[in-house]
Amino acid sequence: MNFELTEEHLAVQQAARDFAQTELLPGVIERDEHQKFPAEQIKKMGELGFMAMMVDPKYGGGGMDTISYVLAMEEISKIDASASVCMSVNNSLVCWGLETYGTEDQKQKYLVPLASGQAIGAFLLSEPEAGSDATSQRTTAFDQGDHYLLNGTKNWITNGNSASYYLVIAQTDVEKGHKGINAFIVEKSWDGVTVGKKEDKLGIRGSDTHSIMFQDVKIPKENRIGEDGFGFTFAMKVLSGGRIGIAAQALGIASGAYELAVKYSKERKAFGKEIMHHQAIAFKLADMATEIEAARMLCLKAAWLKDQHLNYDRASAMAKLFASEVAMKTTVEAVQVHGGYGFVKEYHVERLMRDAKITQIYEGTSEIQRVVISRDVLK
Ligand code: CAA
Repeated sequence: MNFELTEEHLAVQQAARDFAQTELLPGVIERDEHQKFPAEQIKKMGELGFMAMMVDPKYGGGGMDTISYVLAMEEISKIDASASVCMSVNNSLVCWGLETYGTEDQKQKYLVPLASGQAIGAFLLSEPEAGSDATSQRTTAFDQGDHYLLNGTKNWITNGNSASYYLVIAQTDVEKGHKGINAFIVEKSWDGVTVGKKEDKLGIRGSDTHSIMFQDVKIPKENRIGEDGFGFTFAMKVLSGGRIGIAAQALGIASGAYELAVKYSKERKAFGKEIMHHQAIAFKLADMATEIEAARMLCLKAAWLKDQHLNYDRASAMAKLFASEVAMKTTVEAVQVHGGYGFVKEYHVERLMRDAKITQIYEGTSEIQRVVISRDVLK
């Protein structure tokens, strides 16, 4: 067993750290306040290869492993979780789903622009009445002979307005339940596609979360992904890898808050000495450091399993469950270490605390991760 990162891993980590400091940190507070999507920054991330890190270079991707992706996600998320959720959805849900299950024509048409950073993708599974209960799809795509006709509404869609291409999960045969679900590539520009209002959120306020409505949208037959009825399995497979990305996001939010707490505790004096010399603060930092390290190990283990082509369903659920809980706990404690300063925007930790919450909700709530883990433990 080797816990050392390679030189390539360290270089990716450093590049992501530098990018986050120079390009994402300036303006992050304003983007959060005004709910401004980091469009320019995402474009640069595409040009630098952060938006399709694991895609084969023959499609314009970075050809890197999942460990590199976790390292980059952690660094980007330390500074701007709104940018990192866009990165995560594009990398692990959209690009991975297309590269793994798409046809060569689909890859040429959609994966190439997504991998080069010319376009952003979104993953459309959740509905007003199908969040955790993902088999209860109400959106339908009925076979009309030479095309499918798509109708319905999707909710909570990350990159909803900024994406050009949507991977849409829809029921094609109601009688067949989850075996009658398919996944389709839908272009935002098509007739009948409407982007709903932007959600006014507690956290990740710079990210672009919308409802998307479909009314009699014609989907060409060649835009179905996989065999007929593959859609639910596709969604589950994609989400299993996606959970590694969100786990790494949670890890980054936690480690970003922790680093700020360490820095502050070395500068701030109270009762005649820097507050790090008070055990009440030092012990908090020790707990944070320990829990973050454990979360990092779970993220890297899940990434390693994926890179070895071994099953990672349980590992990714464990990483997401644990890292998101560490993110919530660590950010609350980081605010506490900062005292009153932690409660104002300038010190960043209040934003990280608000951003942490969503990691316990999207790509499967903590309860859903426990369902996945317990089923595996008990089988
Ligand atoms: N790989 C392959 N197949 C899988 C699978 C996996 N990881 N997990 C389940 N399946 C298959 C099952 O084998 C089963 O198939 P068969 O009937 O052929 O055996 C089928 O899928 C149905 O599975 P279940 O019976 O387990 O279904 P369920 O209804 O009991 O629940 C669930 C499954 C795990 C709870 C699932 O509904 C789930 O993951 N829900 C959460 C959805 C989610 O994560 N949503 C997030 C939205 S995307 C998002 O948030 C993106 C973003 O914006 C950041």
